[in-house]
Amino acid sequence: MATPSRYVGTARSRLDGPAKVTGAAKYAAEFTAPDLAHGVVVSSAIAKGRITAIDTKAAEAVPGVIKVLTHENKPRTAWLDYNYRDQVAPPGSPFRALNGPEIVYGGQPVALVVAESFELARHGASLVKVTYDEEVPNTDLAKNRDAAYVPPKKRSGIKPPPDPRGDAAGAYDTAPIQLRQEYKQAIEHHNPMEPHASTVVYEGEGKLTIHDKIQGVNNTQGYVCSVFNLKPDDVRVITPYVGGGFGSGLRPQYQLYLAVAAALDLKRSVRVVLTRDQMFTFGYRPETYQTVALGADEAGRLQSLTHDAVAGTSTFEDYQEAVVNWSGLLYHCPNVTLDYKLAKIDTYTPSDMRAPGAVTGIFALESAMDELAYATGIDPLELRLRNYAERDEGEGKDFTSKALRAAYEQGAARFGWSRRKAEPRSMRDGHELVGWGMATGVWEAMMMQSSASATLTPDGTLELACSTADLGTGTYTILAQIGADALGLPLDRVTTRLGDTALPEAPLAGGSWTAASSGAAVQAACRKVAEQLFGHARSMAESPLANADFAHVTFADGDIRLQTDPSRKVSIAEAMRAGGVERVEATEKVKPSMLTNMRYSAYTHSAVFAEVKIDEELGVVRVTRVVSAIAAGKILNLKTARSQILGGVVMGIGAALEEESMLDHNLGRIMNHNLGEYHVPVNADIHDIEVIFVDEHDDKVSPLGVKGLGEIGIVGAAAAVANAVFHATGKRVRDLPITIDKII
Ligand code: MOS
Repeated sequence: MATPSRYVGTARSRLDGPAKVTGAAKYAAEFTAPDLAHGVVVSSAIAKGRITAIDTKAAEAVPGVIKVLTHENKPRTAWLDYNYRDQVAPPGSPFRALNGPEIVYGGQPVALVVAESFELARHGASLVKVTYDEEVPNTDLAKNRDAAYVPPKKRSGIKPPPDPRGDAAGAYDTAPIQLRQEYKQAIEHHNPMEPHASTVVYEGEGKLTIHDKIQGVNNTQGYVCSVFNLKPDDVRVITPYVGGGFGSGLRPQYQLYLAVAAALDLKRSVRVVLTRDQMFTFGYRPETYQTVALGADEAGRLQSLTHDAVAGTSTFEDYQEAVVNWSGLLYHCPNVTLDYKLAKIDTYTPSDMRAPGAVTGIFALESAMDELAYATGIDPLELRLRNYAERDEGEGKDFTSKALRAAYEQGAARFGWSRRKAEPRSMRDGHELVGWGMATGVWEAMMMQSSASATLTPDGTLELACSTADLGTGTYTILAQIGADALGLPLDRVTTRLGDTALPEAPLAGGSWTAASSGAAVQAACRKVAEQLFGHARSMAESPLANADFAHVTFADGDIRLQTDPSRKVSIAEAMRAGGVERVEATEKVKPSMLTNMRYSAYTHSAVFAEVKIDEELGVVRVTRVVSAIAAGKILNLKTARSQILGGVVMGIGAALEEESMLDHNLGRIMNHNLGEYHVPVNADIHDIEVIFVDEHDDKVSPLGVKGLGEIGIVGAAAAVANAVFHATGKRVRDLPITIDKII
């Protein structure tokens, strides 16, 4: 069967766009139910200690307040058996809301006030009086670095750093050029537009339908079944739209637990929505200290590379992200030692945040490479080309594909890199210093097991179904494009259903693997449909395709045609009539190739070029131009793909210049827990961003040829900006974010 590419590879607007801009798309907190009750969370005012008394009388006296749940009256149904760790839980003991009087982090939920309306619940929550026995919290990572430990293996998907190769310490000592510096990444919170929320619809007899803010409905279902001892048949999770995730929605959060506990206790539907402030009371990108040591010869060729990282985690879980691993594979270097440790502090557990680990680690490595460029007097781009890795030397494997060289070349050409003056402070525009910096980005290209179904009806409409989530990335659109091309249908005849545990199971939407995984499942299901349909077409009396082979037909314009003679064709309706069926459907499960995973390393790459203009007196940094050249295999949709990279670059600019969750170590609380004080880039901060997709053929990661785009856009962006800041000012800031006080 040939599948002409009519839609795949073109620029298409999101098919879910109209539903989103008209308000027809419903998010977790927008679903309702008859008799819906509303829960509002009371957050702990201290970060460490015990609740000695909790007075709920005033709240309960408010007419319309139904119940106040606390650790003293928590429903007996809860935590019956908590063997289950959600799909991405790190090692340790997951946080259990209302499990006891102990306070283990600032903002921890201590009560849920359930009322007839949200307003009454909020008023009730303001009346709950909690008395604490307070202890001094230990939240300063700097003071806990010495107690850093090697995290227990393992967390699914996270590899510990590879064994050392060569003798990094010895090679460093004898290297003509030696650089050793410390870099720091601040805590960042995801802040998706949609706050975390769960609407739990009590269907009677212990059955629940849950609308949860989650990047994968199956994770919510598994968690709820385990914690509340329910059967999967009794818990259906439906989340068709997700208002941004960035990783914050990978793990079920405490509002889900509280809403389900209340619904089961009251035998009534309950909705719990977290406030923006409360969005700062769970996962985040962890604060991380890193040391990078580079030894090189005078020609800039790396002889030794050491990268150590110490990251914060909670007292109860060992959250891990492979901060240093990419440093072992991005460049050719014979002597490499990588080290990754954690230190416990009294905060909630960190969680994956867009390109977890790589944002942090690549900022350090690519800043260090920039420092090496100045130390050797070699152009930063030329330095990277001299150290180009043809293989993954960390794992000793070939890459499935690697078009990074093309990304460097095309990105540099578009940016005009050759016009850069080498000296810091050598370029200016009026009262502004101009800086040009660049960096490399790298991220995993992964495929995971996924299922999908395809159902074709005689009028040529196709319905695709898969439990994966569309986080706003374009998943609805790319899956429809794949389905339309697979069966030769117009795009407007394809509908896609996502985000429902009743649909074929997909992995969490994360790790940049959704297109490669669920896209491949859709393609496989459509191929099965095509085979069945072809069987019916051949069985037709005097079929024009009677002797045809499946390999030699094309599906186009609602027909099955012989490639060598397109006049010999059977329509979809004719084929179904011949087969006596009213629909043709198939559900397929695809898995990544074990052989590929054993033999190859699979990564996407980027070359990021940034221009900054800095007011010489005020230190205000503007990122006036970014060119991001991406090598990520086949691009399914040029428009949604570009949007992914734009969003990644914007978030990278945020990491470089603005984003920082500030802990007050006396209170153990995050001080700037709102979007007024936690700064993210706004329109006025974003100027010209250009995205280039270089040709890259990859036939190993996924049958689709795609490698994933959700995360690569952010990786390297912060380093490119930081390197541009140095070029503009001569001041090296190794501590993100680069705020004005660090420049002046
Ligand atoms: Mo992503 S941090 O895997 O949602």
